[in-house]
Amino acid sequence: MRKPFIAGNWKMNMTRESGLALVRGLMEKLQGTSSQIDVAVCPPSVYLQEISSALKGSAIGVGGQNMYHEADGAFTGEVSGPMLCDLHCQYVILGHSERRQFFGETDSSVNKKTHAALKFGLTPIVCVGEMLSERESGATAQVIDTQVRGSLAGLTPEQASKIVIAYEPVWAIGTGKTATPAQAEEVHAQIRGLLTELFGKSVSDVIRIQYGGSVKPDNAGELMSQPNIDGALVGGASLKADSFAAIVLASCGLAAAK
Ligand code: 13P
Repeated sequence: MRKPFIAGNWKMNMTRESGLALVRGLMEKLQGTSSQIDVAVCPPSVYLQEISSALKGSAIGVGGQNMYHEADGAFTGEVSGPMLCDLHCQYVILGHSERRQFFGETDSSVNKKTHAALKFGLTPIVCVGEMLSERESGATAQVIDTQVRGSLAGLTPEQASKIVIAYEPVWAIGTGKTATPAQAEEVHAQIRGLLTELFGKSVSDVIRIQYGGSVKPDNAGELMSQPNIDGALVGGASLKADSFAAIVLASCGLAAAK
């Protein structure tokens, strides 16, 4: 019912040259997988044009890593939804924990961006996740509840059916410490329940919830086999064609060696 979706978040990494080599490698390694799985890369905005052009005609989608909620205007340094669309992006990551931690993003700003992304025809990948101190103090469920409600406030069920959610426990990002499949599934199931409460079961059944945080070829399959984990948002391991392709192939049930 939910097609798995794996996205690579390059963060502030890669060059023009290495980014192009990466996507060329992915196109070769992922041939024939698009009926089983959706795949996208999210390069830094300065490389979107070039990466989009290189991927033209392939099944690999492209996304931005952030956007501002206004369409245009005096907002120095920002990139808008229509600009991402202009560069053939289909997706945009919103409210990543690094944006929340280092750039002051809040549920309220993420909410404005989510509405704007949908208005401009982009699929928002809305990120939520608890910090280590919150997990250790037993506050995970409350933190996730607040972030999901705040980030998705005011969406109609029809709008909500178009979003993707990424659960990324902050303590698992870039640390090599993956949440166990059971820990991740517990939160994913909570999010699914919350989506049912907010938008109804038929909508929550179609919303894909990705897991993010040290996803690697050797843990992707087990994570993806959990009932409420529908894909992954991959950081470090998305920077090499071999490891990102292996994650995709493990997730669609094919051998990485194929
Ligand atoms: P890592 O896969 O490097 O832990 O990063 C996860 C992430 O933040 C993806 O958005």
